[in-house]
Amino acid sequence: MTTRRTLIKSAGALVLAASFPLIASAQEVVKVGLILPMTGPFASTGRQIEAAAKLYMAQHGNTVAGKRVELIVKDDTNVADMTKRLAQELIVNDKVNILAGFGLTPLALATAPLATQAKVPMVVMAAGTAMITEQSPFIVRTSFTLPQNTLGIAKWAPNNGIKKAVTLVSDFGPGIDAQNAFKKYFTEGGGEVVQEIRVPVRNPDFAPFLQRVSNLKPDAVFVFVPSGVGSIFMKQFSERGLDKSGIKLIGTGDVTDDDILNDMGAAAKGVITSMNYSAALDNPANKAYVEAFTKANNMRPNFMSVGGYDGMALIYKALEKTKGDVSGPALLEAMKGQSWESPRGPVTIDPDTREIIQNVYITEVKEVNGALYNVPFDKIEAVKDPAKIK
Ligand code: DHB
Repeated sequence: MTTRRTLIKSAGALVLAASFPLIASAQEVVKVGLILPMTGPFASTGRQIEAAAKLYMAQHGNTVAGKRVELIVKDDTNVADMTKRLAQELIVNDKVNILAGFGLTPLALATAPLATQAKVPMVVMAAGTAMITEQSPFIVRTSFTLPQNTLGIAKWAPNNGIKKAVTLVSDFGPGIDAQNAFKKYFTEGGGEVVQEIRVPVRNPDFAPFLQRVSNLKPDAVFVFVPSGVGSIFMKQFSERGLDKSGIKLIGTGDVTDDDILNDMGAAAKGVITSMNYSAALDNPANKAYVEAFTKANNMRPNFMSVGGYDGMALIYKALEKTKGDVSGPALLEAMKGQSWESPRGPVTIDPDTREIIQNVYITEVKEVNGALYNVPFDKIEAVKDPAKIK
């Protein structure tokens, strides 16, 4: 009997002993729900950001401040209702501590109210419309804003022989931000915007709009298209002979995205853009980043990738600062004011706006060792989102 009771007792103890580490390890996990367009027309954004987030974790280990970081990747297919539903499921079912990703502006906007309600930090790694961070006090951005990236080229152009420009932008948040910021800084520098053209985001056919640009004969056309769309734009630009028309192509670096730039051919050479990142940046952190990213993924990292890489860096730094406290408000506070050395140069999360302060580079497309790159030739340092400077 004694033996039997002991056996039962010890069996119970075993069950208990076996379940304790399970409970303990469940508490030691910090979950990051990464929602991205992994399929559809903006799949390259998802592919770049996922690869970069995983690279950061591979390089820095998946344990920080005693917590195991678990990344849960979801594909929203670039449908805002889906982003919102996935965010809801991640919060309620998976009990994620942080939401991240958000490949395009409408996807970030749809999710903002959930971040506020659940008090879950929402790290925007891609979307760039300035007003996104104002939609929830829980949003922190590691990508860029369009006014921030546009400012560089809009100030460069009037000092470099461009007096009359046409703007041609995708007709949604970031395009409208780019259009308005370009007009502001270009006009302040003495330039004149002679026409503002907006092109549908879905299945864009640039041909009729490019014909208008051609007829207007401006010194330059300023372009914003979202990441991935630059190839079709550039093809139609050269098909209509605009590359040889004397009308200079300028824009934010979204149009000469590193992900697709090398396949654009000779028409892209000489295009001047401004952007928060170029794979051709000559600094030790970027050289190491480009090498590791290319080795792991067999593709060149673009500006979207650094949003993902630095987004993970920010999450790790916040966890270190809270010493592993994973509550939403604690993590959010710990994210504010963080500074580090990114492949894009020095960055800081502005504690007042939750936007990333970073360099903006002016670059020209050139052939380097037989491949096309956005080669930086000038920079503006430590640029805050100009839309939030009163
Ligand atoms: C956004 C999307 C892009 O692909 C890009 O290059 C810039 C901005 C956006 O939706 O905010």
